[in-house]
Amino acid sequence: MSVLTPQSSSHFDVIIIGGGSLGQATAWQLGKRKVRTLVLEQFTFLNQLGSSGGVSRQFRIPYPEEYMVKLVKQSVPLWEELQALTPVPLQDKVGTLWFGDPTVHSTEGNIGEAEKALENQGVPFTTLDAGEIEKQYHFRNLPETYTGLFQPDGASINLRATLETLLQWNTLSSFVTLLDNAPVTTIVDNKTHFEVTTPQGNFTADKLVLTPGPFANSVFNLLNFQINATYWNMASAYFKVTQPGIQYPTWFVFQNPVDDHGSVNGNQFYGFPEVSWNYPGYVRVASDFVMADLSSPEQRTFVPNPKELGYTAQWVADHMTGLEPVPSFTSTCLVSLSTIKNKELLLGFAPEYVPNHHRITFCTTGWVGKFVPLMGRILSDLTVDGHTPYDISHFGARPNFFSAFTAAK
Ligand code: BEZ
Repeated sequence: MSVLTPQSSSHFDVIIIGGGSLGQATAWQLGKRKVRTLVLEQFTFLNQLGSSGGVSRQFRIPYPEEYMVKLVKQSVPLWEELQALTPVPLQDKVGTLWFGDPTVHSTEGNIGEAEKALENQGVPFTTLDAGEIEKQYHFRNLPETYTGLFQPDGASINLRATLETLLQWNTLSSFVTLLDNAPVTTIVDNKTHFEVTTPQGNFTADKLVLTPGPFANSVFNLLNFQINATYWNMASAYFKVTQPGIQYPTWFVFQNPVDDHGSVNGNQFYGFPEVSWNYPGYVRVASDFVMADLSSPEQRTFVPNPKELGYTAQWVADHMTGLEPVPSFTSTCLVSLSTIKNKELLLGFAPEYVPNHHRITFCTTGWVGKFVPLMGRILSDLTVDGHTPYDISHFGARPNFFSAFTAAK
């Protein structure tokens, strides 16, 4: 790792603000292109405080939108390139099982629409009825109307190993400098370059990449813009495996919200198989809804919502086999989601009213774990070339993605 002495002042081609998985992946790509890059992280590297927290993510190809299916497929060669840097498997390919009520259209999509998108993109999958899902994948008591699809390329991502691999490459690169415990307090646009202030020193760069995860607005506000997002303290539970050898795929169940004593609650859950890198002997199941969302990341407590956990445990007890029905451990992860309908991922250049916006790129919100190496590539393309061959037209800087922010004087 390049070491910066406190109060040092240095110029870089690019400063990346946010040293989680997206920031590290961008530094990897920029370093390969011999771009002198500084990565600033407000906490310590590998911290558990942002959206790179937790240990596993789902890699899945099914999406209701064809452009998303295409983008996940395009991430595969970049995952392979990253995998070549480490002997530790970054993915455990157990397949994706999407199942549930075929009439549900949720934030994650709809089963039938995903099947069409997969078909159009030539992605192999099999369709299943409720009986087949129960027989082949260990679920039980499913309504007869439930359908499903199994896509064999789905995987559990070892996010921790992914981050460690990137961090190690960047540490060894002579083009990448890493500095943690360095929250950015001001950004001044000096026309030809940006001046970035941290308690550990002031740095300048020709270009900025902003990858602050859920802390996006605290960085974007320094440049007088912000995005509209909501934040989830997403709760996971770990259930002990009691039936030796039982193996679940990564899965997601689509169900309509339920009316519980007058309050309508989410009813979608997702889960992982047992993985060697995270509580071996246990499987993780989580709710894909929150009962109390947060208006800022600072409101996060790390305490899982007991009602969300209760719903998850009830679903496991009712519908899964080979597991203890009561969770042994819990965890939370901070998720930020755009409040713009159907807009899970925001990516591109800063809005036009920000001076020198074409020298500032950003990526924030959404479920980006499966895209980590690809997002690094796209952000490095945009930063160095001003464009990318990947289709990011669905995520870019449209005026309604942003609102102006004026700092109090
Ligand atoms: C995803 O793969 O994007 C995802 C998986 C589980 C919950 C939410 C999103």
